Amino acid sequence: EKDISILAIESSCDETAAAVVRNGREVLSNVIDSQIALHTEYGGVVPEIASRKHIEKINQVIEKALADADRTLSQMDAIAVTYGPGLVGALLVGVSAAKAISFASNIPLVGVHHIEGHISANYIENKELKPPFLCLVVSGGHSHLVVVKDYGEYEIIGRTRDDAAGEAFDKVARAIGLGYPGGPKIDKVSREGNPDAIHFPRAKVGDAAYDFSFSGLKSAVLNYLNSCQMKGEEAVVADVAASFQKAVIDVLVEHSMDAIAKYGYKKFAIAGGVASNSGLRKAFEETCAREGIDFYHPSPLYCTDNAAMIGVAAYYEYRNGVRHGFDLNAVPNLKL
Ligand code: KG4
Ligand code: ZN
Repeated sequence: EKDISILAIESSCDETAAAVVRNGREVLSNVIDSQIALHTEYGGVVPEIASRKHIEKINQVIEKALADADRTLSQMDAIAVTYGPGLVGALLVGVSAAKAISFASNIPLVGVHHIEGHISANYIENKELKPPFLCLVVSGGHSHLVVVKDYGEYEIIGRTRDDAAGEAFDKVARAIGLGYPGGPKIDKVSREGNPDAIHFPRAKVGDAAYDFSFSGLKSAVLNYLNSCQMKGEEAVVADVAASFQKAVIDVLVEHSMDAIAKYGYKKFAIAGGVASNSGLRKAFEETCAREGIDFYHPSPLYCTDNAAMIGVAAYYEYRNGVRHGFDLNAVPNLKL
């Protein structure tokens, strides 16, 4: 069978990224230009700044991805791009670049859903992983429990009612003075803290068993910090971070294990920026080992936003016959 090589582009949030992926599983190059330093002074991603920076960087990132892979554009079988969900101005930069390249080179265009990309990151280092399996997607914008029925076929069985898991990490980090991006910083200081020091609530969402809610937890942390201040006490940052992180992990593990039991899957994967959290990985490793479930996760590099995961997802879409026209548009709230 002929090799399929895909040039993939990702610009949905604050990373300008391009990659070359062969046969859906082999990453030949993976270039990521992170804007994190640029947004840090504002305490979060500023959409207008993100779009402008994507425009400045996209061409050189794409050229570097081809050069690192030792490939030319004419050797590509498809041009893949994230077209949603994400920041509309940021998405448009990648979508426009992909359409222009596809038009000029006559190479087919394949639009990819960002969450499908995150899930597909698991295929890169776990060559034996195939659907069906259950996947927990936890990122800055999403907390989803997804049944991966087949390549390109998904069913969302749980979602967040308010804040996404990563958003909660970022907001709590800001409140305890750790800055942006909060996830990695809370992860790090939590290792020096006591996760049982403060009991924060584990939110239950009444009618939908697998839905998440993190805004109550965030408020509980803010209330705790306020009450410390009123009493003239200094909150122990490492203990607050560790106790908050434990509360998030407990809820994610409990809902995931309930869904695994109910649906009877033996394979479970995690994906998205929060999936690189060391405490979360450890908790799932232990729980899955105890329950006899095969546990999969990408390396941290493939958990946060990257284009390799888009190239992987695009390969299976391409094989399913998916092609997009030049009317492909950015869809900020694209459904899976
Ligand atoms: O997947 P991602 O790069 O972008 C989105 O699609 O949203 O996820 C970014 C999110 C941020 O909220 C960041 O704080 C969080 O992932 N994150 C982490 C860790 N690394 C990144 N959260 C917890 N622990 C980490 N180690
Ligand atoms: Zn993402």
